[in-house]
Amino acid sequence: MFEHTSWGKLSRLRRIVANDGRSLMLAIDHGYFMGPTHGMERPAEAIADLVPHIDSLMLSPGILTSCVDPAFKGGIVLRASGGNSILEDDIDNEGLILSAREANRLNASAIAVSIYIGADHQHQSLLNLANAINEAAQFDLPVLAVTAVGKKLKDKKEKRYLSLSSRIAAEYGADIVKTYYCEGFEEVVAKTPAPIVVAGGPKLDTYHDVLELCYNSIQAGAIGVDMGRNIWQSDYPSAIIQGVKGVLHENLTVKEALELVDGLIGDATRRKSKFEVTEEDIKTSAIH
Ligand code: R5P
Repeated sequence: MFEHTSWGKLSRLRRIVANDGRSLMLAIDHGYFMGPTHGMERPAEAIADLVPHIDSLMLSPGILTSCVDPAFKGGIVLRASGGNSILEDDIDNEGLILSAREANRLNASAIAVSIYIGADHQHQSLLNLANAINEAAQFDLPVLAVTAVGKKLKDKKEKRYLSLSSRIAAEYGADIVKTYYCEGFEEVVAKTPAPIVVAGGPKLDTYHDVLELCYNSIQAGAIGVDMGRNIWQSDYPSAIIQGVKGVLHENLTVKEALELVDGLIGDATRRKSKFEVTEEDIKTSAIH
């Protein structure tokens, strides 16, 4: 992994990928098009108990500067594509919202750009990735490509589609590809010559499902996960994140990780809900 990488880029990547070659990235960038998403209404409070257990944070520049302590030692993956909201028909009409220069100034470890293969704005999203990679090269700044599905393509999370998207991202020069897990995921990994992290997707029914997703992803060759809603929308966020960490960094089985999570469930790890959450909020936050 990263054999042909320059020292500067490698130094940044090492803040995202731990010594064991695994990566636990906490995704909290959803607000860039979903606004104050259920569970992430107050980012600083929501991440306080999670940060000690992660390798990196994936987030928007404004949430970095307003909600994250500059003493944070982990990796910082800044969202660089955007320009839309959930009020649109779909969310694939994106441009670049953050320059590599600004990301460098913010001491980012990488920038993240979404591509929407097969969507109306596929072409523009691919140019976004290409432009970001070309610009980021000047700063030895790694680029994480996100194979996004938006609203219309959300049922296309299967190996043929995900292989296509992930391979295109790698062909453009993405340093890490973030995609979804699917049946036959080994094939997606095998056909993508770049390290892969798996997105969590909408909230799953049980902790067992979440841990199994992480375990299966690693077994299939992913280097880690970039997970959001399944952590911070859960009732016990800092319990489940420790289970995920156990699977990724301590090679726990699903059963062992679940026992760990069960043992951590209690008042100390409970999510402090302060806002009314409607069925509509939950449905909206599961659109991709
Ligand atoms: C979109 O909101 C972002 O790309 C997320 O970072 C990504 O979907 C991962 O978060 P989740 O695990 O909630 O799907």
